[in-house]
Amino acid sequence: MATNCFFLSLDMINNAPIGIFDSGIGGLTVANAIKNVLPNESIVYFGDTKHLPYGEKSTEAIIEYSIQISKFLKQKKCKMIIIACNTASSVAFESVKRTCPSIKVINVIDPVIDYISQNKSTVKIGVIGTKGTIKSNIYQKKINASNKHISVKSLATPLLAPMIEEGFVNDSISKLVVHNYLNNEKLAGIEKIILACTHYPLIEKIIESFYKNKIEIIDSASQVAEKIKSYLTEKEILSKTEAQHHFYVSDYTESFEQSAKVFFNKNLALEKVKLKP
Ligand code: DGL
Repeated sequence: MATNCFFLSLDMINNAPIGIFDSGIGGLTVANAIKNVLPNESIVYFGDTKHLPYGEKSTEAIIEYSIQISKFLKQKKCKMIIIACNTASSVAFESVKRTCPSIKVINVIDPVIDYISQNKSTVKIGVIGTKGTIKSNIYQKKINASNKHISVKSLATPLLAPMIEEGFVNDSISKLVVHNYLNNEKLAGIEKIILACTHYPLIEKIIESFYKNKIEIIDSASQVAEKIKSYLTEKEILSKTEAQHHFYVSDYTESFEQSAKVFFNKNLALEKVKLKP
């Protein structure tokens, strides 16, 4: 009897969902990479569309939103929480860990830093992200902590996340805005560029064409998915059942629903929830 209970509780952990959050659709790029690498894992996704864009908010506000969302994901019995937002990862990682001490929390920055530190030859690396992420200087600090010879050139690109959220991803407007930012002299001569916002993989093609495929474009989605796979495999808590995904938002937006349908099932249901303070 006791043995049965033990197996029952282990199965419950294995089949528990992975919680993912972002301000909006950006984290779907991470969720999509997780789905591709770990097709049996269920996902509970929270898009804080009511408070978008995070990049313009104060540190205190982002910490508060992140704590509320983490509590919600904890209630949903998630076995892991992925902060699929660079802005929240920059300022709220420790607060989320403190809110959910029994749940493994992963941010989207450290897997990228690990990837960069494996390659010793790069000397000049560009970072584009929201005002919040760039102001935190977290990429420069972390990259230089592992290799002080890399010169990090950071540029805030605040129009990009709202532009992408509005669906401007592959047209003349998005091209103009992206080219304008990437022509900034701060980024001259970079050998790699980090897309330090989970929204940016959605405009990766424009960035690639700007650089004529000559520099490496690094985004966190695949690095994060691999890190999650290693963790679940090592802890032996990979899901054994068919995945069931759930999508929640703090405010309904058509663009979120459409993007979620592109990455996930056309029939997915979007639920609006009011988070408790
Ligand atoms: N996708 C988010 C990030 O990685 C947030 C963008 C925003 O809401 O400003 O920073």
